[in-house]
Amino acid sequence: MVLKVNHLSSGYGNVKIVNDVSLEVNTKEIIALIGRNGVGKTTLMKSLIGHIKSSSGKIYLHDNDITKLSPAKRAALGIGYVPQGRGIFTRLSVLDNLRMGENVGGNPRSTNFERVFQFFPILKERGNQKAGSLSGGEQQQLSIGRVLVGNPELILLDEPSEGVQPNIVQAIGEIIRRLRDEEGLTVLIVEQNLDLIGAVADHCVVMDKGSIVTQLATKDLNNPDVARKYLAI
Ligand SMILES: Nc1ncnc2c1ncn2[C@@H]1O[C@H](COP(=O)(O)OP(=O)(O)OP(=O)(O)O)[C@@H](O)[C@H]1O
Ligand SMILES: [Mg+2]
Repeated sequence: MVLKVNHLSSGYGNVKIVNDVSLEVNTKEIIALIGRNGVGKTTLMKSLIGHIKSSSGKIYLHDNDITKLSPAKRAALGIGYVPQGRGIFTRLSVLDNLRMGENVGGNPRSTNFERVFQFFPILKERGNQKAGSLSGGEQQQLSIGRVLVGNPELILLDEPSEGVQPNIVQAIGEIIRRLRDEEGLTVLIVEQNLDLIGAVADHCVVMDKGSIVTQLATKDLNNPDVARKYLAI
């Protein structure tokens, strides 16, 4: 098992959002975290990477208790975080944005631009351009590429399909699968896009009002009633 979350709660100030969440992600699994808008998916992701503190519960990377570690330390242990909204620096060049991922996996000397360009050739072409000049889909590729420049073992992806045109969503789905198949990465992905979930997820964990309410086989989402119940569609 790569990631284990035990009875985790977190929120903003006194407002509890994530409520007693437990989940496990095994080696080389791609797990989709799904649920309607505002149920706490991003808050859970921010808790996993350490951008917000957890009020109770534990987070383990393998057998390491990482609950109290800083985001930088979690990154150095091999967690790559691709935030909702991408979090790229629009006035910096594509290459400078990629360099910010060096610390993922803890060995900046192993910085691997070639691996990024192998998955996202467009980023090589656009290397010296300002990141803000890229399209939404290209910026999303940059945000994923940034964690691949380091040496991640687990990647946390928060809605990579958001603001991205369908053909690029499909390409991103293929890359997520290749990252697992060829690079052996483990993935926890927050998504609402049925096509992307269907293309990548081994199974789905459903969140509602801050808690995990059920798990689904990915094919269960082929049933429109099930999809409507758990996704904002
Ligand atoms: N910085 C913040 N301060 C206070 N409350 C917040 C903050 N960010 C989010 N919230 C609240 O926490 C709740 C969960 O938000 P969160 O962003 O985790 O949901 P989400 O499931 O990721 O939604 P979406 O699908 O729209 O991305 C919402 O009620 C939101 O208003
Ligand atoms: Mg969100």
